[in-house]
Amino acid sequence: MRQRTIGGVQVSAIGLGGMPMSIEGRPDHQRSVATIHAALDAGVTLIDTADAYHLHADEVGHNESLIAEALASWGGDASSVVVATKGGHLRPGDGRWTRDGRPEYLKQAAEASLKRLGVPAIGLYQFHRPDPSVPYAESVGALADLLDAGKIRMAGISNANPAQIREAQEVLGGRLASVQNQYSPAFVSSRPELDLCTELGVAFLPWSPLGGISRASDLGARFAAFRQVADAHGVSPQQVTLGWMLATSPVVVPIPGSSRPETIRDSVRAADLDLSADELATLDAAVSRR
Ligand SMILES: NC(=O)c1ccc[n+]([C@@H]2O[C@H](COP(=O)([O-])OP(=O)(O)OC[C@H]3O[C@@H](n4cnc5c(N)ncnc54)[C@H](OP(=O)(O)O)[C@@H]3O)[C@@H](O)[C@H]2O)c1
Repeated sequence: MRQRTIGGVQVSAIGLGGMPMSIEGRPDHQRSVATIHAALDAGVTLIDTADAYHLHADEVGHNESLIAEALASWGGDASSVVVATKGGHLRPGDGRWTRDGRPEYLKQAAEASLKRLGVPAIGLYQFHRPDPSVPYAESVGALADLLDAGKIRMAGISNANPAQIREAQEVLGGRLASVQNQYSPAFVSSRPELDLCTELGVAFLPWSPLGGISRASDLGARFAAFRQVADAHGVSPQQVTLGWMLATSPVVVPIPGSSRPETIRDSVRAADLDLSADELATLDAAVSRR
């Protein structure tokens, strides 16, 4: 599979998003492990998770533990796999997503993630979502301290606007490795952040790249241009979407979510899908017309 880099570390051009395996509608344990193993077998070396990917209040870190277990039980060499987790978002168990961006909380959350992942240092630790009650520089400052302490290898942010990206880069002394924002054919309003990441050489990880768990399957029905290009190549519209994203900028590393081996196997093939300049122009035009 083609490769990309995050903070100078090489990863597969397509990562695996772990969220569908731990929140509402999640599959059974066996199928989740099979999905993660299928990703690894296909060459995926980036897995995105978060301590908040769980359902009930008493199972914080459900997805991190699942990934740690699947990596340990996989037959191959997992030493080059980067597990990217996040802190600062919480799920009290009633369906809500709350926030806590206090530096002391983030440091404690990172320690807990480190234990669940069973690694000496977290591959990529991302501040999940800005907390309006805490100055952004203070939250990101916790990531700088975690880097300095060797608890995390790379630091990233998520759901950030251009001003926050620049602020994070400054607070981290130029060590901002990644930005993870929503980006898909149905949601292109993060384009300014993507362009800024390209300018700064910071990895951009589009979340919900296929439109999200409940809408990913009808992508081809909603976006005729993507379906037509897919038909011409004999591939899925989801694969074309990921290929189109990769062609947008060398800093893009999509993390499609999956809860079945078949879907992640299909998605990783996007890394090697070559779309022509005409096809890319057609897809860009279809998205910008919306
Ligand atoms: N930072 C944030 O605030 C934030 C927010 C949301 C998500 N995320 C991250 O981003 C990741 C991706 O987002 P997402 O999971 O919400 O949405 P998504 O990637 O847009 O869609 C996920 C769904 O797409 C389906 N799918 C995947 N590949 C497919 C293919 N090739 N063909 C057909 N269907 C396919 C999967 O179906 P099956 O379940 O049937 O396999 C899955 O349920 C998450 O898993 C999470 O790691 C981050």
